[in-house]
Amino acid sequence: MKKDFLWGGAIAAHQVEGAWDAEGKGISIADVMTAGSKDKARKITDGVIEGEYYPNHEGIDFYHHYKEDVKMFAEMGFKCLRTSLAWTRIFPNGDETKPNEAGLKFYDDLFDELLKYDIEPVITLSHFEMPYHLVKEYGGWRNRKLIDFFVHFSDTVMRRYKDKVKYWLTFNEINNQRILDNPIYGWTNSGVLYKDNEDKLEVMYQAAHYQFVASALVVKKAKDINPAFQVGCVLAATPNYPLTSDPNDILLAQQEDENQLFFTDVQVRGHYSQKVLKIWENSGYSIDVTKQDVIDLSAGTVDFIGVTYYLSNTVSIRPEAKRLNDKLLGSDVLVENPLAETTEWGWTIDPKGLRYYLNLLANRYELPIFIVENGFGYADKFENGSIHDKERIEYLTEHINQMQLAIEEDGVEVIGYTVWGCIDPISFTTGEMLKRYGFIYVDRDNDGKGSLKRYKKDSFYWYRELIASNGLVMD
Ligand code: BG6
Repeated sequence: MKKDFLWGGAIAAHQVEGAWDAEGKGISIADVMTAGSKDKARKITDGVIEGEYYPNHEGIDFYHHYKEDVKMFAEMGFKCLRTSLAWTRIFPNGDETKPNEAGLKFYDDLFDELLKYDIEPVITLSHFEMPYHLVKEYGGWRNRKLIDFFVHFSDTVMRRYKDKVKYWLTFNEINNQRILDNPIYGWTNSGVLYKDNEDKLEVMYQAAHYQFVASALVVKKAKDINPAFQVGCVLAATPNYPLTSDPNDILLAQQEDENQLFFTDVQVRGHYSQKVLKIWENSGYSIDVTKQDVIDLSAGTVDFIGVTYYLSNTVSIRPEAKRLNDKLLGSDVLVENPLAETTEWGWTIDPKGLRYYLNLLANRYELPIFIVENGFGYADKFENGSIHDKERIEYLTEHINQMQLAIEEDGVEVIGYTVWGCIDPISFTTGEMLKRYGFIYVDRDNDGKGSLKRYKKDSFYWYRELIASNGLVMD
């Protein structure tokens, strides 16, 4: 592994910070999502409603604990920390011209704390949150005006932190919104809730288009602000395997892959593929794409590809295939993979899928890849202050091994690897605390009870050793 490989961890503002209304912060779309579980969907409420429980309001109170937490990240030897900015700390409503100084100052302090330990901040501009006001007033990313608001926000923070942050990511897992049947994805990607009488796919393409333009404009601005900036997109990379050798299954798997890669295609190539243009034509979609958009898209292509990887999917049209009917993964073509184990939350465990997809992405795009999320959600057992999370160590070991094979044997250029939820966050899909990811355990339960005290899990010491040996210690 290269000496400057960026080992680290990843979190997102709304899943850890809490302090949802501190020092002028506005309401974000994450603040109106209630707690759920693997069997109960999170509700998206019309504003903050008394009597409902919103786990992101307090998160794990990283806002007040960050010094203690960063110190522990440093103890593990992190070279980088990926986190995001809460847009609403800086522009509470999103359409203001002047930022909220208290919000900017919080991130100044956080970045200074990281840099004190030589931890490079890797910053996502939009990780499943945006001002709720922009949804109520403008309809979220259905509206072209969002481009200007987002670019103004991004420009403000890139100027402010130009000497502290080098790596930027525009939209987290922008391709999630392609899952149309589960409202959580359109909401968290774009602030969009589909109406019964509309063509969801058409609305999705429009919202994504405005985000592509916004992302491209941000890339262009980034280079003017600091030519050393590196700006990436983020793909939720989920390989789709055909269940059988039936060519219909193979075509279906290819189709599902194309549906997710279409997002990266635009952000890397700077234009739409012939396939997508054909879909629009065949479906009679009239997507608002101006001549200037076409110019902007090609002028703002990304420098690297951020990849999040957790699981693979298997698809089939065959009647004998066992349908998953998973509300969270949300597609009726998904079937059980008889060869794969799953986590307690039903996500397949497939380390080799990571190597497979790294190869596919490297060959398709010929750009550096940054694995900005990979992790194991598990209901850790807390035993007298100890957490023996050997399952997590196994999961991560196997995935890191596959990443190293992709680098060493296949020549894929991977510049970093950050473990998702390096300190237990609130789960995004379920809003639970029970689904833990961290090297650091946080004493908080699904009802928001607990001391918030932090404890080191066994994986904490394992990861420290792994980083110290630059990935060589694998047990
Ligand atoms: C990714 C997101 O989809 O997966 C994170 O970028 C999220 O925000 C992570 O937390 C794991 O998902 P979950 O639902 O288990 O928290």
